Amino acid sequence: MLKLLSNPSQIITVDTNKKNVKRANELKELSVLTNHSILIENNIIKDFIPEASVSKINPDVIIDLAGKIVLPGIIECHTHTAFAGSRAKEFRQRLAGVHYEEIAKAGGGINTTVSAVRQSSFEELIDIIKPRIENFISQGITTLEIKSGYGLDLENELKLLKAINYLNEYYPIDIIPTFLGAHTFPLEFKDDHQGYVDLIIEKMLPKVAEKKYAVFCDGFCESTAFSENEIDHIFTAANKLGLKLKLHTEQFNSIGGIDIALKHNATSIDHLEVLNDSDISKVCNSDTVAVLLPGVSFFLNYGYAPARKLIDGGAIVTLATDYNPGSSHISNIAFIMSLAALKMNMTIEETISAVTINSAKALELQSDRGSLEIGKKADFAIFNTNEYSDIVYNVGKNLNCMTIKNGEIIFEFNGGKN
Ligand code: NIG
Ligand code: FE
Repeated sequence: MLKLLSNPSQIITVDTNKKNVKRANELKELSVLTNHSILIENNIIKDFIPEASVSKINPDVIIDLAGKIVLPGIIECHTHTAFAGSRAKEFRQRLAGVHYEEIAKAGGGINTTVSAVRQSSFEELIDIIKPRIENFISQGITTLEIKSGYGLDLENELKLLKAINYLNEYYPIDIIPTFLGAHTFPLEFKDDHQGYVDLIIEKMLPKVAEKKYAVFCDGFCESTAFSENEIDHIFTAANKLGLKLKLHTEQFNSIGGIDIALKHNATSIDHLEVLNDSDISKVCNSDTVAVLLPGVSFFLNYGYAPARKLIDGGAIVTLATDYNPGSSHISNIAFIMSLAALKMNMTIEETISAVTINSAKALELQSDRGSLEIGKKADFAIFNTNEYSDIVYNVGKNLNCMTIKNGEIIFEFNGGKN
């Protein structure tokens, strides 16, 4: 089956260096193709056809883009979409001046959501999560990472991961499951940290690996959560079972998470709001992706990660929503791109490279997606504009009007400008 995506005003290929990852000045280069159509064979990009040659092609289907722009399908590489309940009450407390970490120390925060998840059945969770995934699809997202981390016991972590895996089968996009048993200590292990680390290592990780429920193992290295040493043990065990690694670190305090993540060759380190200069240079000299989450800084009203220093120093930088009920109740990736531009001094081009090729790298999927190249997946986000700056300039607005996954239209908005 041959399909032609015809008549786009711009094709943003993001493919400029053939390395499937971007560092330093490469993030600023997008490669914009005009007067071309895209030929798709089945689920793969077959060719880019110059306007003058389009009449020689005989496709089975023509999708007329009528002057809209084409980007690679957006890749959202860090979310906590699998949650139940609401933290609106804690949001009110925060607005009244109570710090996010104080709420956590008092037994709220992540543990508030844990109790809501434990009270929800598998079916209830599916019903809650579905519209969130549909919302991501409507933004042009074709690959979506989702973490567990709100069950925090064997049964409930497996329930969350089972739901995430079920939804991966249910929806046409690729949903990448991450096991986040080391998110925080559940209340029943408040005074027995070693007991909970043992539970993760001896019971949870082996089951997750046996059931093939997760690609990644993630953790939270923070003074209110797991120490460097505890993460070290968990990562050693996860690695032996074939899981790849990610780490939430340097969010509020710097307690050695960077060294541990780099020692274990983690795929990504996420947050980095308080990353210090000596750690910046370690990250810049590594292949570990720096996943920046400006939505958290905005939602919790504190400092932003040092995006400029990281990019200029050569780190692999990407962006994500971190969509979750406590620290970033924000599910709009274009808004995150606007925040990155306005608050972290990233250029529009850098934000686009971030959420495409570098996000693919943060999920180790860069060889078949993240840029528009012959042979890569036919995953596209079509935006209702003729100039890509509009995606970032329209703060908080979703300009995506068509999402194509593996060559199939999976979302279409026909109501004029979004
Ligand atoms: O990425 N840092 C830890 N975990 C999440 C927040 C989870 C929550 O507050 O529910 C984060 O910010
Ligand atoms: Fe997170």
